[in-house]
Amino acid sequence: MRRFCSILTRVSATLVVGAGLVMLAGSGPAMAVGQGDGIVGSPHDFKAEIWNFRGEICRVCHVPHDHALATQYYLNGLLWNRGVSAATYTMYNNAWSSSIDNVQSPQPDGISKLCLSCHDGTVAIDQFDTQVGGNIFMGPEYGDNRVISIFRDGSNIDLRGTHPLSIVYDDTVDTGLRPDTTTMGTSGSIADVLDFQKVQCSSCHDVHDEESVPGTNLLRVANTAAAGGEASGLCLTCHNKDNR
Ligand code: HEC
Ligand code: HEC
Ligand code: HEC
Ligand code: HEC
Repeated sequence: MRRFCSILTRVSATLVVGAGLVMLAGSGPAMAVGQGDGIVGSPHDFKAEIWNFRGEICRVCHVPHDHALATQYYLNGLLWNRGVSAATYTMYNNAWSSSIDNVQSPQPDGISKLCLSCHDGTVAIDQFDTQVGGNIFMGPEYGDNRVISIFRDGSNIDLRGTHPLSIVYDDTVDTGLRPDTTTMGTSGSIADVLDFQKVQCSSCHDVHDEESVPGTNLLRVANTAAAGGEASGLCLTCHNKDNR
């Protein structure tokens, strides 16, 4: 049902964009939650989208051979097959919060950079591999709530309103953090969800929907009792605010 609805939504949204008229919102958030049973049929399965020229799942993000494309998308790691954003971001950092202890990268890096290649809203989702695309963007097509922050700080994308990203997780530097050996849902330990020791989007979310809690926004640990977890369970996995 979810795919059926979203395909219809996407077809109509594309026609509307093509006609240059007022754009319709994307599918409702309730339709794009994770189920924890893998990427097929998950929010990141785009095989049936009309903009996906090969109808494959992985190719929208990864490619086995880059076929000497001049774009060299692979330089972003993980056989990446799409451009990353050229935006400049204002980070959540020491100038913004006097209590930040760990070192944060000056700009998003690693896996966060890959997620932001769709989720900052500036890069066309249908622009990947050899496809030029450039018609389908996160906000209009898939909903503004899926855009992680917007241009709110001059020409910078303002990330001060989102959880610190690309920041080292060192529980000896910030003793309010639990040991990185602490269990993180079904994803192993906190250390296992870090990217070169840093917290990235992927520390909280599972893009392939293998280890996420059913019914959540692809979260590795539920944040509500309704989703079968404890209230703020995700936050309390890393932050020791309950003196457990
Ligand atoms: C929407 C983009 C997207 C799609 C589609 C996607 N991936 Fe990924 N993949 C990522 C990102 C981002 C990472 C790094 C984050 C992570 O590992 O959680 C990643 C990491 C990986 C990794 C290395 C880490 C790991 O999980 O083992 C493998 C292997 C991988 N993907 C395989 C695949 C395959 C195979 C498919 C298709 C069946 C696929 N991916 C589809 C975005 C995607
Ligand atoms: C190819 C572009 C692309 C990449 C790369 C990508 N996403 Fe997404 N993501 C989307 C789209 C489009 C949707 C909405 C899907 C829908 O409406 O069916 C989505 C949905 C989501 C959702 C679910 C939203 C909800 O309402 O439940 C989360 C969470 C998410 N993405 C996180 C990530 C993270 C974290 C990464 C990197 C590890 C990532 N995404 C990489 C395109 C992307
Ligand atoms: C510290 C954990 C954490 C990190 C890091 C994180 N998120 Fe989330 N994200 C959440 C939680 C929790 C939600 C559920 C919605 C809420 O609680 O407001 C969420 C919701 C979302 C949604 C659904 C729409 C919405 O806003 O509700 C998307 C899409 C998303 N995140 C993408 C990302 C991307 C992309 C990154 C990296 C740029 C990222 N997230 C980093 C915890 C995180
Ligand atoms: C994967 C581990 C992880 C998860 C999950 C996580 N955080 Fe964090 N959080 C961190 C790290 C690391 C920092 C940076 C701490 C430091 O060095 O001061 C941080 C920083 C913060 C800060 C900024 C503190 C300051 O001094 O300015 C807040 C607020 C926060 N987190 C709240 C949350 C909330 C709310 C959640 C749940 C939605 C959450 N965190 C989930 C790891 C995590």
